Amino acid sequence: MKESLWQLFLDIKQKVQSYPNVIHSVGTDGQDVFINSDKENDSANGFVVCFDVNTFNKKIEPTFLLTANGKLEKLNGNTDHLDFHSLQLYLPFCLASVIKKDQEFPLILSHFAQSLDGYIAATNGQSQWIGNEENLIHSHRIRALCDAVIIGNNTLLNDKPKLNVRRVKGNDPIRVVIGNKNHCTQSLTGSSIGQIIRFSSDNIIKDSSVDVVKIDCKEQNYIPTSSILKTLYQKGVRSVLIEGGSTTSSLFIKEGNTDIVQYHIAPILLGSGIPNYNHSHTITSIDEGLHFEHYHFNLMGDQIMFTGYL
Ligand SMILES: NC(=O)c1ccc[n+]([C@@H]2O[C@H](COP(=O)([O-])OP(=O)(O)OC[C@H]3O[C@@H](n4cnc5c(N)ncnc54)[C@H](OP(=O)(O)O)[C@@H]3O)[C@@H](O)[C@H]2O)c1
Repeated sequence: MKESLWQLFLDIKQKVQSYPNVIHSVGTDGQDVFINSDKENDSANGFVVCFDVNTFNKKIEPTFLLTANGKLEKLNGNTDHLDFHSLQLYLPFCLASVIKKDQEFPLILSHFAQSLDGYIAATNGQSQWIGNEENLIHSHRIRALCDAVIIGNNTLLNDKPKLNVRRVKGNDPIRVVIGNKNHCTQSLTGSSIGQIIRFSSDNIIKDSSVDVVKIDCKEQNYIPTSSILKTLYQKGVRSVLIEGGSTTSSLFIKEGNTDIVQYHIAPILLGSGIPNYNHSHTITSIDEGLHFEHYHFNLMGDQIMFTGYL
């Protein structure tokens, strides 16, 4: 991706999030971002984004429709000269605050690097690195565009991730850990001054370096993912990246709290390990699987990535 396009994504996100009034449309000439320059673009089916504004008249401006679950569709005009692959991957997160505003909920992406047979880690928990360099750059781009990144306690313990933005230009997201065991957060606290939040259902957690949010589990033995997302939304979070592991991401999917899944598929077979998705019950027929109505595969260097919209 061209550096100028990455800068444009950062500019769109910043302008959209800091705009004080209702947003009807967003346009760009490739450098500047125009908010509400064209009020007619308000569409019932999604949010309309125009490119090359000021170059063409309204009828042939390249325009895209962005739905509430982050799916980008071509609408009008000649879009051949635009980098559709990058627009499809990153534009939804720049505009998360407008496409989800009616639901008052963040846009949620679950992302993994996995083996061909669907494992995200070996049986000993090792996962670094299943993906390639392009996948790492992609992960850092998504971190830079999302307001928060979430992991489960086992991933904190095993991977000791920093969860900051290092490989591209951009700000660190709020880093969020879920779980009751008081695993050391040194990898997070030592890598960024940004906020760290731990969601727990227990009063035992005492960690002055993180903000602890206690949520009761009630009848089930895990924190409802909607409660986590509502709390984050109230703190201004409009887009969330769930970076794993399997238990954490699966709970969000099972509770209907995932808009987009991305599985970066590496040319390796593990045969056993930690799966990308954990069903809570045994699946006995193909029909019971999770089906995607809309999806696409993209080349990521010499590997591929599946993106599915739920
Ligand atoms: N390949 C990749 O892209 C990738 C990415 C990330 C991680 N991984 C791998 O994934 C593995 C870890 O996956 P995992 O499935 O074992 O664990 P995990 O999802 O990282 O963590 C699970 C733990 O998080 C807490 N938790 C998560 N959601 C919760 C909720 N809604 N309510 C209450 N607690 C919640 C619980 O902690 P407590 O038990 O402490 O309460 C639970 O035991 C690691 O080996 C890591 O390397 C791979």
